[in-house]
Amino acid sequence: MTTLITHGTIISATTSQLADILIDGDIIKDVRPNIPHDQASRIIDATGMLLFPGGIDAHTHLDMPFGGTVSADDFETGTRAAAFGGTTTLIDFAIQPKGTRMRDALDTWWKKADNRATIDFGLHMIVTDLGECGLEDMDDMVREGVASFKLFMAYPGVLMVDDATIFKALTQTGKNGALICMHAENGGVIDVIVQRALAEGKTAPIYHALTRPVTAEAEAVNRAIAMAEMAGAPIYIVHLSSEDALNKVREARDRGLPAFAETCPQYLLLSVEELNRPNFEGAKYVFTPPLREKHHLPKLWDGLKHDHLQVVSTDHCPFCFADQKVLGKNDFTKIPNGGPGVENRLQLIYHHGVNSGKLDLNRFVEITSTAPARIFGLYPRKGVIAPGSDADIVIWDPCAKHTISATTHHMRVDYSMFEGFEVKGNARTVLSRGDVIVDQGRFEAKPGRGQYLRRSARGGAWV
Ligand code: URP
Ligand code: ZN
Ligand code: ZN
Repeated sequence: MTTLITHGTIISATTSQLADILIDGDIIKDVRPNIPHDQASRIIDATGMLLFPGGIDAHTHLDMPFGGTVSADDFETGTRAAAFGGTTTLIDFAIQPKGTRMRDALDTWWKKADNRATIDFGLHMIVTDLGECGLEDMDDMVREGVASFKLFMAYPGVLMVDDATIFKALTQTGKNGALICMHAENGGVIDVIVQRALAEGKTAPIYHALTRPVTAEAEAVNRAIAMAEMAGAPIYIVHLSSEDALNKVREARDRGLPAFAETCPQYLLLSVEELNRPNFEGAKYVFTPPLREKHHLPKLWDGLKHDHLQVVSTDHCPFCFADQKVLGKNDFTKIPNGGPGVENRLQLIYHHGVNSGKLDLNRFVEITSTAPARIFGLYPRKGVIAPGSDADIVIWDPCAKHTISATTHHMRVDYSMFEGFEVKGNARTVLSRGDVIVDQGRFEAKPGRGQYLRRSARGGAWV
């Protein structure tokens, strides 16, 4: 099928242009004003609309075993919810259980996605153990298009690895061109503070935040960047939450180091008071790093504007309040860590970033699509509206008003972290590889149509 999208304003990371888009099958064939209508079998009128490259959420956890349970969205419900919000690519995390081979984990995650994913997806590999074959396994993963690895400096006894492991992994990526994504919090120190709180009978959700100080994040970010520098490798800090941590990334970038970082809508829009909600509702906001004091929020927005932060992802890791968060009713350390958000990323960043004047439209596209495509080895297949790229396009109505609510969202979770937030600007129609998958609130994609994306190492962001 050939499709012509007419009269929209195409937004890239650098330009805004009133033009038409001709799509042939999966791929964008032409982008220019006044493409003749007889070239296409289907015409979509986008008058008054903005046209964005499909959103890329580089940090989701679908169907993930964690905290004694499994995240509530699988690859079908999670990718469907993402599509409603204008996200057409996810990069999820496979987990290598300690003592196992990474290929087994990759197979497990491919099976989870098989026949379920409705949009395209890539995978990072969470490394918990390098063992004898770990470095070889990392090269094997890169050959399979897993061009990034997540390591944890937190969650001792579960996912945390020591500095020697981190340094070895960084050194390997310095050679094979992959990227280490770091969960940067000092897990050892946090564990001591947590045990002290529990011994004092402090068990409510708010203690999740009070036992994870900002300095534990900033120290770990600093250490991670220092290890990357010694290894001669780039580094990407995930879910950065505080000004103190941001300063470490900014200082590194000012020195010319290939250090990158993402933040998430929850850190830009919510603060620590949420964990004090009555009736255990603070548990809805238990994720790591925790929400911070309000004064951090404008610093993160400023960091996004000035490219000290490069990406907004969601860290979508949903657990239902009624039967999952409740596991920690008497002990905050047993509350499954994570929150939902994959559906609302573009709405929230557009409304609170673009409408409020904190970000311009081009920067909005850069941080939600183009930069993650570049950093994670998907560009120019994804992340741009240009001839030869996949026809992943969001037709965005800048005037559409929407109230975010668990009663209307498509994520398989019984609450929203942004309940009642009113936003202006929403996806009207979403195309993934030329298929209209969402149109005016209707979902039109079949589970299983989403393809696994083999991503390139040396994505290009640092060369
Ligand atoms: O609390 C969170 N962030 N859960 C997901 C796992 C992680 O650390 O990203
Ligand atoms: Zn993490
Ligand atoms: Zn995460």
